[in-house]
Amino acid sequence: MPHCLIDDCSKVSYPFVLDDYKFVDEFTNTNHKDTLIVVLYKDVEFVLSKKIKNNNIQIKFDKTTRVSPVNIIKGAIKAYISVCGGKILFSNLNEKYQTKTISNNIKNIEFFTNKDGFENFLTNFKDIAIEIGFGSGRHILHKASLNMTTLYIGLEIHPTSIEQLDRQIKQKDIKNIIILSHDARVFLQFLRSNIIKNIYIHFPVPWDKKPHRRVFSDSFIKEAQRVLKPNGKLELRTDSLNYFEYCMSLFKNYDNIKIEKNKNIAISSKYEDRWRKMQKNIYDIVLTNKTQSDDFCLSLNFDFLGIIEPKKRISSKKLIFDDYFISFGEFYQNKKGNILIAVVFGDFNQPSKRYIIIKNKKARYLQSNPLGTITNNKAHKKINQILGEL
Ligand SMILES: C[S@@+](CC[C@H](N)C(=O)[O-])C[C@H]1O[C@@H](n2cnc3c(N)ncnc32)[C@H](O)[C@@H]1O
Repeated sequence: MPHCLIDDCSKVSYPFVLDDYKFVDEFTNTNHKDTLIVVLYKDVEFVLSKKIKNNNIQIKFDKTTRVSPVNIIKGAIKAYISVCGGKILFSNLNEKYQTKTISNNIKNIEFFTNKDGFENFLTNFKDIAIEIGFGSGRHILHKASLNMTTLYIGLEIHPTSIEQLDRQIKQKDIKNIIILSHDARVFLQFLRSNIIKNIYIHFPVPWDKKPHRRVFSDSFIKEAQRVLKPNGKLELRTDSLNYFEYCMSLFKNYDNIKIEKNKNIAISSKYEDRWRKMQKNIYDIVLTNKTQSDDFCLSLNFDFLGIIEPKKRISSKKLIFDDYFISFGEFYQNKKGNILIAVVFGDFNQPSKRYIIIKNKKARYLQSNPLGTITNNKAHKKINQILGEL
């Protein structure tokens, strides 16, 4: 990642503007001499990290406020060097970084949270189906080829599977599959109620030793029911007796499920081929949604309320709550007494990382608010309370 080593930066004074970059301010770590430089490129906010290394100064990219393409960071470091008054001792700024071409088939979570984008896209389709953990993609490709007016949303967390499916979509010029690289357990909360026809989960990882990582849970089933249309179906297919029994225990109060064993379906996935060769049993549980759910639109506020004026050091001890955590990190201050705090928080499996900037007793997240999930919002409210109390 872009970085450079210089021997002096005494000529820098904030704020200053060079080309499209505004160098807003510099915050010094209250424990040591490392600093963070807040930079604005057009309307994109990020920080550069500045560290003292053997009496020289290293300027580099900061992981918490990633920006893309990486040339924006390179440009910022070059701009900083040109005014700092120091000599360059080392730099990798002329190296070429591989920039992945962004595929139109692969959407990010913001595509779904930005209601206009997703809703406009939906006007091309009559129905929506979701496949969670599509793996080799055989099942989703098969379904999409049979139902051209249904949009198939494929969720995966395995990059190679995502690339493989993307390649096949391009080769076959398929118009009704989009891919989301995101944990399925948090995705459904971004959808409106009663809009999905089918949710397929075929051969999910059983996670026998780490059951908290399983896709199925009480809350997942409730969310699935909410987003399914009346008569929409949630389909589990598994070779794991343990997972099947676990799901049966979750479904114990549901009277709208159908169970089958060794059912033949039109397309067999790679996993299914393997289990069939080994003559393993395959279990299906299909839930048919019978209810029209209330409208639901997740709209969460990440503003900081009240006066935020931390007077004493915040403990770096990890704070653990029922379904989220908060861990405050390094603490930085600028010459005017404004504060920057690093914090990691939210869901145990999908934590968010941000800097909070506190200026004139008001706080906000640097660069962007966290992803609008329920757990992030709970954590945010707690952070607000902690920073307000101190
Ligand atoms: C055992 S494979 C089954 C793949 C495919 N359904 C099949 O039948 O061949 C499980 C897949 O689920 C994906 N997966 C696991 N946890 C996930 C999650 N939380 N969200 C989305 N995908 C997940 C894994 O990356 C893996 O590709």
